[in-house]
Formats: sequence, structure tokens, C-alpha cells
Amino acid sequence: MKHHIKSKSFYTHLQCHYCGRIYDKHKIHTFCQDDNQPLEAYYSFDNSWSKDSLRGRANNMWRYREVLPIENEENQISLGEGFTPLLQLAKLESRYDQSELFLKDESGNPTGSFKARGISMAVSKAKELGVKEMCIPTAGNAGSALSAYCAKAGIGAHIFMPEATPVVFQLDCEIMGAKVTKVKGNISDAANLMRSKNDGSWFDVSTLKEPFRLEGKKTMGYEIIEQLHWQLPDVILYPTGGGTGLIGIWKALQEMKTLGWLTHIPTRMVAIQVAGCNPVVQAFQKKLDYIPMYENPAPTIANGLRVPHPFGDRMIMKTLYESKGTAVSVTEEEIRQSLDEFAKTEGLFLSPEGAAVWMGYKKLKENNWIKPDDSVVLLNTGSVYKYVENLV
Ligand SMILES: Cc1ncc(COP(=O)(O)O)c(C=O)c1O
Ligand SMILES: [Zn+2]
Repeated sequence: MKHHIKSKSFYTHLQCHYCGRIYDKHKIHTFCQDDNQPLEAYYSFDNSWSKDSLRGRANNMWRYREVLPIENEENQISLGEGFTPLLQLAKLESRYDQSELFLKDESGNPTGSFKARGISMAVSKAKELGVKEMCIPTAGNAGSALSAYCAKAGIGAHIFMPEATPVVFQLDCEIMGAKVTKVKGNISDAANLMRSKNDGSWFDVSTLKEPFRLEGKKTMGYEIIEQLHWQLPDVILYPTGGGTGLIGIWKALQEMKTLGWLTHIPTRMVAIQVAGCNPVVQAFQKKLDYIPMYENPAPTIANGLRVPHPFGDRMIMKTLYESKGTAVSVTEEEIRQSLDEFAKTEGLFLSPEGAAVWMGYKKLKENNWIKPDDSVVLLNTGSVYKYVENLV
């Protein structure tokens, strides 16, 4: 899709979030070579760029082009990702005595999840830098997205997924021409096998080992605030696996402040996890600034949350502490109850990850961490229809 935005990207360079080492934007980079930490994209924010200029732009994530890293518009590989609805949940507001409750519903994105945003950005940037083959370990959604965007870009895709991944994800990838390998074990096992098969010719786009998926995911933050007419919510609850969305939304809020679009940021960021794999919750309870490996993660119907050792661990913890947020886990039974309640009340069949978020909200409301006059945004990150076999 081509848009007629005359403005240019403000992208300047990549920088290690941990040691500050700067990396040249014209070369292909993965993560910091000194300390194995993720790199972040930086911009020369031009304060003359007004949020009013967004009016009339295309309703997709590319409306924020100035703060995205693609330099030549020709390289945008777009299937129409982003600008998903922010729905107000009037019935649940009144049932739970919450002044404002919203759902950012990501299920309508291309290939059925928020992963489209990050992967669209990563594939666009890879095309801009001349990459020919890409690879990814995935819980499902990121694999579907990579296969679709690589098909459109003419880039080869190699997908590694746990055996327990719902079957539609494999079909999705294969119809797009990607090569799929099913792996015994969890997403970390898939990542290990992938690394052993990669002779160096595949560009690895594992969560936060590649810097630009984060830039796509951060557009959720820009959108939520734009859709709330530049009012910040008090709380954002996010289903956290690798953590890109959580970190990305927080990055967007900081950028909007630098741009002069916001004066202060009251928003507390909350990571929701499953009880059988909750490394973020455990690290938060122990007040750690890193996340130890979670041994033997249990199977879950929320496949995207079975991430035992997120690579962006320090960034996840920093986001929770800086925003005065918290981390909560929910059980499989609670996810099922939440799916049922949400569907019967609001007419929305959430993904298991989205249902986990709803349960997380209820727990935090019950213990008064969320107050009745807080304004709250919940994320539903994907379409439930990919998960039918988990639910029958
Ligand atoms: C539907 C869904 N929600 C949430 C997640 C976790 O996302 P993140 O890596 O941004 O924490 C995933 C990851 O696979 C997912 O597919
Ligand atoms: Zn570093």
C-alpha cells in the first residue's frame, strides 16, 4: 500500500539499551556485541512535528512514519497492519465499577495478530538492507506473520515452532511458501534447533535479537493514545511472553513526551503471564532487574505466553519498575472462565492471551491495585480462531 506522506523518517541510529554503544544504521545488526543486550532505534525528534499532521493519514501503523525506521517508502512491506479498534467496554465498566475500561483489539490485523506490526517493520527494514533469507522461532503468530510478509517481500522464510503449536499456524506458513520445522519442546528448544541449522545465511528475527520488531510493536502505544485523544490511561495490561509489546508501548509513551505531545506519563504497565510459565512475575516478586530461566514451563492454551527466558529480560523489568507497574499470573481455568464471561458480556471471543489479561485485571481490581476511577486499557493480542483446537 502506498501513501502520500511527504515527511521523512527521523531515524538516526541504533544504540544498546544497556551500555549505550552506538551502531551504524546502514549496516545489518542483531544485538549488542559487547553484552548480548537488545539494540533500540533512536530518532532526532523534530519538535516542529505536530500531532495534528496525523489527521487524514492512512489508518494503519505507517501513519507514524516519522518515528519509524524505514527510510525509503518503497521498502514498506504492508498488508494494512495497525489502527485496530479501541473498544469501550460499557457493560464490564458497570459490572466492575470501573470508570473507564477499553480493549485494544489486535485480532483484526493481517494474519490475525499484533505480530503483524513488528514483522511488517522487520521485513521492511530487512528488504531495505538487502536481506535474502530470514528465520524465526515462534509460538505460532509470529511465524504466520513472517511467512506472509516475506512472501510479499520476496524473501525466504524458515520457521521453527514447538510441536504443540495449533495446526493452522503450520498451514498458514506453508501456503505462504515458508519452510516449517516442528520441534519437540518449547520455544527456547525451537530457537536452539534453529541456531544449529543456520549456517549464517539466515537473518535471525527472534524477539529483540532484531531491533525493528520493537518499532512496529510500539505503534500500539501511539495508537492507544491517539485513539484516547491524547489522554493517557492510568493502567495498560499486556499479555507478556517475549515482552516486545510491553516494552514497545512504554517506548512510544517516552517518545511522545520527547516530541512534546504529552507532558507527563502516569501510566502503569502490567505484565500478565500464565501460572505454568511466569518468569516475569517471579523476577518482579524478587525485585530482580533480570529474569532467570523458568525451568519446565507447563503447556498452556495461551501458546504465546510460554516463553521461559525472554531475551529482553532487563528491558521488561525496567519497564515495570519505571512505570510503577506490576506483574500477575493467571491459571488455565481462570483463562477459560474469562473467555466465557467476556464473550457473554461484550460479544467478543478473546484469544487465550487476551482472556488472561481480563483475569489479570479482575485480580488487580479485587486487591485494589486498580482503583475505581482509573482508566484501564486491556490488550487482546490475537484472533481466537487460530486456537480452536485448544478450546474444544
Ligand atoms: C497472541 C499473543 N499474545 C501475546 C504474545 C506475547 O507477545 P510478546 O512477545 O510481545 O510478549 C504472543 C507471542 O507469541 C502471542 O502470539
Ligand atoms: Zn551493549
